[in-house]
Parts: sequence; structure tokens; C-alpha cells
Amino acid sequence: MIEIKNLNRYYQVGKERFYAIRDISLSIKKGEFVLFHGVSGSGKTTLLSIIAGVDRPSSGMISVNNELISKLPDQHLSRFRNREIGIIFQHYNLLESLTVYDNVSAPLIPERLSLKEIDKRVKKSLKIANISHKANSIASTLSGGEKQRCAIARALVTDASIIVCDEPTANLDRANIDIFLDILKKLHKLNKTIIVSTHDPIFQKLDYIDQIIHLEDGVLVS
Ligand SMILES: Nc1ncnc2c1ncn2[C@@H]1O[C@H](COP(=O)(O)OP(=O)(O)OP(=O)(O)O)[C@@H](O)[C@H]1O
Ligand SMILES: [Mg+2]
Repeated sequence: MIEIKNLNRYYQVGKERFYAIRDISLSIKKGEFVLFHGVSGSGKTTLLSIIAGVDRPSSGMISVNNELISKLPDQHLSRFRNREIGIIFQHYNLLESLTVYDNVSAPLIPERLSLKEIDKRVKKSLKIANISHKANSIASTLSGGEKQRCAIARALVTDASIIVCDEPTANLDRANIDIFLDILKKLHKLNKTIIVSTHDPIFQKLDYIDQIIHLEDGVLVS
């Protein structure tokens, strides 16, 4: 469901091209749990952002659910992203002055659903992400782990088939990491495709990882 061929993303630095990722080819099947592993600066976030439709490749091909997203016009790309991809950023990117409920319902605004349907979906997502009890709290008052679970609920609310997480455990303590891993396991069972970028060794011990993609200086080494 995700096909990547000869993908490059470079930045022009003066007269030189700096390759954040170079000639990456890979494929990820529906329902797989995939890790992007590598040291800081190896290109994990860059690759994840292109898959999520947040960034564009400089060259190469990427298709997601049979849609050639490398060729999609901006407006279609953002619609595609909203529908198909749930993104959990490292810093969560919540609307801090709004409640958890409002944050989670935000991606449904363009979908023109009834209030009843919105309420149903928001409550279901809050439940899966284990954050229903904070539905009416203002996002800025949440702990780090709670903010992350709010971001997870938001990522689930459009029923996206692909969930991408960038360094999801970086700001969590051990107890919250365990809660997070439990939620990921639940999502895996729901047949979501899950892609996690991380240098946290804790993920390598999980027994339900389908692929570990190791990046070094923007190159896929294994
Ligand atoms: N806008 C930019 N301009 C120039 N270089 C950039 C830009 N964005 C990223 N890079 C470079 O691309 C490389 C890959 O960055 P990326 O953020 O993908 O790494 P990462 O593996 O996610 O690292 P970390 O583990 O620290 O998050 C880095 O060397 C980075 O400095
Ligand atoms: Mg990164």
C-alpha cells in the first residue's frame, strides 16, 4: 500500500546539494508495523514527512493507497493527508487553548458530518487513546503523556488507515511509554499501518514489528 522508488529529498545549501534522504526504495504492506531507525540526522523525519504528505520529494516516486502522492496538486495532497494519514508529531502540535474534545474533532471539520456522527467518532477515538476522562480539559493543562494521547485520538478520528509517529517516546517517562505501546498494539490489531521513527531501543524488543528500516546519512542500509 506504500510504494517508494528511488526517492530523494535534497536541500540546496549554497552551490551544493545536501541529501537528507538519497535513493530510497521500499514498500510497506497494509497493516504492517514498521520502524524507521537511525541516529539523529539520518533522515527519519524527512522520510516520514514525505510519506505523510507534509513534505514533497525532490525526485522519485511515492504512492500511498494507489495514489501517486508525489504528483498530487497541493490541495488534493492536503485532503488526502487529512483522510488517509494520522500524524503524531514529536511536539504533538495541539491547539493549546482548546479542549481535548475540540482538538480531536478538528480534522472532521472539512468532512461535513452531522454533530451526532462527529460526537460518536470523537468519543470512540478518545476511548481507544485512553484519554476520555480529559475530554473537557484545555490542552495546555495536560501532562506530556496526556497530550500525546490527545494527539493519538486526533490521529484516529478520521479513521485513517496509516498512522505515523515521529519520535513518540522522546518526551515520555517509563509509565507513559508503556501506555503508549499498549495503544499502538491496539491500533496494530485494528489493522492500521503503523510507521514509527525512533532511536529508542525499546521498540526493537517488541515482538510485533514487521520491518525495521535502518537509515544512515539518508541512505537505507538495511
Ligand atoms: N530545511 C532544511 N534545510 C537543510 N537541511 C535540512 C532541512 N531539514 C532537514 N535537513 C537536514 O536533513 C538531515 C535529515 O534530517 P531529519 O530531520 O530527517 O533527521 P532525523 O533522522 O529525523 O533526526 P532526529 O533523530 O534528530 O530527529 C539532517 O542533516 C538535517 O540537518
Ligand atoms: Mg527526526
